[in-house]
Amino acid sequence: MDSQSQSYLLRVGDADRERLEVLASIYDPGSQDFLQRHLPAQARTLIDLGCGHGQLTCWMAKAFSRAWVYGLDLSDEQLSICEQNRVALDVPNVSFHRHDVLDPAPDIPQADAVYCRYLLLHLREWNTFFHNVLALCKPGGSLLIEEPGFPFFCYPRHEALDRANALGQALTSRMGLRFDCIDPLWRYVHALDSVRVKAYSFSQPILATDRQKSLLWRSFTQIHQPLVSMGLCTGQEADSILAQLAHIAGDPLYVVGTLRMVQLHLVKL
Ligand SMILES: C[S@@+](CC[C@H](N)C(=O)[O-])C[C@H]1O[C@@H](n2cnc3c(N)ncnc32)[C@H](O)[C@@H]1O
Repeated sequence: MDSQSQSYLLRVGDADRERLEVLASIYDPGSQDFLQRHLPAQARTLIDLGCGHGQLTCWMAKAFSRAWVYGLDLSDEQLSICEQNRVALDVPNVSFHRHDVLDPAPDIPQADAVYCRYLLLHLREWNTFFHNVLALCKPGGSLLIEEPGFPFFCYPRHEALDRANALGQALTSRMGLRFDCIDPLWRYVHALDSVRVKAYSFSQPILATDRQKSLLWRSFTQIHQPLVSMGLCTGQEADSILAQLAHIAGDPLYVVGTLRMVQLHLVKL
């Protein structure tokens, strides 16, 4: 990754395979419903930015079989898993490319719609992002965005989860990122004069299975080291939070909700 994008905090490739699969099992049904409702049925070119392991990119290609779908990601390790998924799912109308969304648009045709999920929270440079993304989009085309807002929650409430939320937000705001993305994103898109907000909705998944509930500790595991190295908590406190999150995840007493997502449909003017 180049210096512009060193803000990407999480692991990539096989090291994040299980967490992204869990994430997909939680969010893909809501995302697919959103995309079915808002992607143009006659689309010929679609782009999935920051496509991760490419499972939604492949789903889009199957659901919109007359379109060519481009999956773009910064990480070669992610792209190699995308390629494995493309072959395993036997999808003929998708291709994956290395691209940093903070660089000028790559040499691919302008799209009828550009989609991203769980990407803007990892980027400091929203002005550059929107400038580049709008260049990738045909005039009148759609920009579909799904980004999360904090907090994770559980009932009954548990102080370890409250503390994990607070630490996650402290870490990312220290890094100049907005993991609690919905409020800043809402303000940002309404101030843009190059787009119109056509539609919006929210999805609020519940973590229904033990595997889905593992998202709590899997997510915290990824920020454990940066939290300690930036002095936001001690290693001992981080270990204790991790153990308590694992307990919440395994105890049927707790009903757990993950981050809610805002779903935005913007139209390029
Ligand atoms: C949390 S993952 C989300 C993956 C996928 N969109 C999903 O929802 O499953 C974020 C992805 O964005 C990619 N990414 C981060 N910064 C990027 C950048 N500047 N340009 C392109 N991709 C980027 C990461 O490599 C990672 O695969």
